[in-house]
Amino acid sequence: MIRSIVRGIGSALPRRIMKNADFEGMVETSDEWIAQRTGIRQRHIAADDETTASLGEAAARAALDNAGLTPADIDLIVLATSTPNNTFPATAVEIQNRLGMHHGFAFDMQAVCSGFVYAITTADLYIRGGLAKRVLVIGAETFSRILDWNDRSTCVLFGDGAGALVIEAAEGEGTIADRGILAASLRSDGVHKDKLYVDGGPSTTGTVGMLRMEGREVFKHAVGMITDVIEATYSEAGITSDDLDWFVPHQANKRIIDASAKKLGIAEEKVVVTVNLHGNTSAASVPLALSVAVADGRIKKGDLVLLEAMGGGFTWGAVLLRW
Ligand code: ACO
Repeated sequence: MIRSIVRGIGSALPRRIMKNADFEGMVETSDEWIAQRTGIRQRHIAADDETTASLGEAAARAALDNAGLTPADIDLIVLATSTPNNTFPATAVEIQNRLGMHHGFAFDMQAVCSGFVYAITTADLYIRGGLAKRVLVIGAETFSRILDWNDRSTCVLFGDGAGALVIEAAEGEGTIADRGILAASLRSDGVHKDKLYVDGGPSTTGTVGMLRMEGREVFKHAVGMITDVIEATYSEAGITSDDLDWFVPHQANKRIIDASAKKLGIAEEKVVVTVNLHGNTSAASVPLALSVAVADGRIKKGDLVLLEAMGGGFTWGAVLLRW
């Protein structure tokens, strides 16, 4: 059977690093509060000349280099983002043009922090359905542009960045020993739409709007939702936490990551944590965390890796793959 295997990975971060201490004097907060409540120590913030498209392009080029491929080898780009360069056209199409790619097709997916998990699941279906052979799956965000910099309960949490994977069709045996995407579970429930949203949009206010979040409410639901989709993914694949080599969760809050891993019985040393370095980069957080763990030699070919995310909507999902 056809599997979608990972062929390359890359990432890109804005030049400027903003430390927790840089917020002191801007809003009433402290390095200690931010680090203790979230695990975040710093985040990257985009300059005017750094956009979702430019960061996404840089991550895509790095993933292509890593794969030993060029844009000519790609037939689909799926970009997960909630901070597109423009309302339309899709920023994926802008990245396609920046890559000098005038064949194939490209589109954006919007599932907030779950965007990358939705995008890689979608790309896998295009590959297995025969509509694409090699796909660039990108998560790229500039959440700094939609933050209310006077709201201490949200502005300290988010950062900008991008990560990308090249995935391609390969023949597999149809067993859990195959490389590639093995199982996935996606969920959403709009009853929670007012707990984490942007208070503007083309069809309502005609403005871009700013991020609003009831942090405590999101926190309350996060662990249960995350563990539910992971258990559904385990049962589809016929595995348990013991079979995993790596757990790469969405990087929103270290306390949510720790509580989810504990509830699932995933050993601490298998958990990839980068929230300290990047903050919450929404759809970019999972591919950025993957990039760090691949670059430092932790994730190796053949390892069983579990991805997970939860975000605005709410949306949530998990993907199991063998690297
Ligand atoms: N510095 C200092 N104090 C602060 C700050 C700050 N930056 N922000 C809030 N506080 C205060 C609050 O005002 C509150 O004060 P009060 O008790 O006088 O009212 C106090 O700290 C405690 O606030 P809580 O919101 O209860 O703090 P909590 O421990 O829940 O941590 C946090 C807040 C970090 C936002 C947490 O709730 C969280 O991580 N929520 C989930 C966020 C998340 O996972 N999002 C994922 C999806 S993101 C996406 O999809 C885009």
